[in-house]
Amino acid sequence: MAKRNIVITGGAGFIGSHVVRLFVNKYPEYNIINLDKLTYAGNLANLKDIENKPNYKFVRMDICDFEAFHQLMQDEKIDGIIHLAAESHVDRSIKDPFTFARTNVMGTLALLQAAKLYWESLPEGYEGKRFYHISTDEVYGALAMNHPEGIEPPLKTVASSEGHKAYGDNFFYEDTKYTPHSPYSASKASSDHFVRAYHDTYGMPTIVTNCSNNYGPYQFPEKLIPLFINNIRNGKPLPVYGKGENVRDWLYVEDHARAIDMIFHEGKVAETYNIGGFNEWKNIDLIKVMIKTVDRILGNPEGHSLELITYVTDRLGHDARYAIDSTKLQKELGWEPSLQFEEGIEKTVRWYLDNQEWLDNITSGDYEKYYDEMYKDR
Ligand code: NAD
Ligand code: TYD
Repeated sequence: MAKRNIVITGGAGFIGSHVVRLFVNKYPEYNIINLDKLTYAGNLANLKDIENKPNYKFVRMDICDFEAFHQLMQDEKIDGIIHLAAESHVDRSIKDPFTFARTNVMGTLALLQAAKLYWESLPEGYEGKRFYHISTDEVYGALAMNHPEGIEPPLKTVASSEGHKAYGDNFFYEDTKYTPHSPYSASKASSDHFVRAYHDTYGMPTIVTNCSNNYGPYQFPEKLIPLFINNIRNGKPLPVYGKGENVRDWLYVEDHARAIDMIFHEGKVAETYNIGGFNEWKNIDLIKVMIKTVDRILGNPEGHSLELITYVTDRLGHDARYAIDSTKLQKELGWEPSLQFEEGIEKTVRWYLDNQEWLDNITSGDYEKYYDEMYKDR
């Protein structure tokens, strides 16, 4: 295998840490640089098991710092960029959209421009180079719930839950029109457009992927699944937005990381791939599965924590339904999810219950204050 010098941005975050771990362990001949600003969401404790590996290096840097990144590209002779750094929480974007535009749009643009200048300065130019941008299905907007009771889905994968349903006969495809609704998805959509523009204008070898909701270990506990597991464990209220009827399509994070590996190496330049496991869940049904699982593992009587469910004011502009069609990735590259949803949830719940110290470190101090402020109106 050829030697490569790869920057993974946002490697101290949730998905990024799984991608860094996979690349560092699987490709000892690569130099893997984890570039992360370490915002509230970045945590080097996510990478303790690989931090001393000889092919791994951490660099603390803001992706908006064009000069510093341009210098790093030259110093490290970077030939591949896997870009995950972003502000990623919809609720935060509703309160503070500027930070999202700065990091997600301007930060991505700074990386693109620095990569362009460096790669164009080399005799071989863009040959053998790759700028891979990780995006979200939320850029496609929201799908109608035209079958609210659920129908037999057109496709199942190993990720699909038992008795799996689809809540519409419509899905997000790679050519679905971009219709972002939240400041988060609007900023991601804008960054996706910039990445494609760098291919179309300058010939940069770019790839974009749009993935559905991820779950698994090391997710910051402001997102639904880790937040609720933690709250069930602590007997705290579970704030369900609206009626809990919104649908999300869940994929185990390691399956996303494997897809990223495959697409980075085998994906076609300038293409878009959707990543998802055909695994739609209404929030309230998913919450009940989490309650059942946590109660069982903690030895509580069945139904014990159901009383924690607390319906709260809905999120502004709350998208009704996300559902990804990943047929292209499955057919063209042969990717498929490895884990059935019930197994993934069991693994995830056990991980958070077994890693209380990790959670307690994050949920103390500044985050606690932020969380109280964020939810003071609810
Ligand atoms: P996360 O919030 O857990 O991690 C983001 C990481 O980026 C953190 O380590 C943070 O420190 C870093 N970061 C933020 N701003 C930075 C800056 N200015 N400079 C350098 N580093 C910075 O996010 P995540 O859930 O792991 O998501 C990673 C990527 O995947 C994002 O681009 C997100 O849009 C995308 N995505 C996420 C999901 C999901 O369900 N979580 C689904 C599809 C796509
Ligand atoms: P989240 O994990 O924030 O991901 P996203 O908004 O990117 O899909 O939320 C998942 C779903 O859970 C979404 O429909 C909003 C809902 N939700 C709640 O009902 N309560 C909560 O406290 C949170 C964080 C989310």
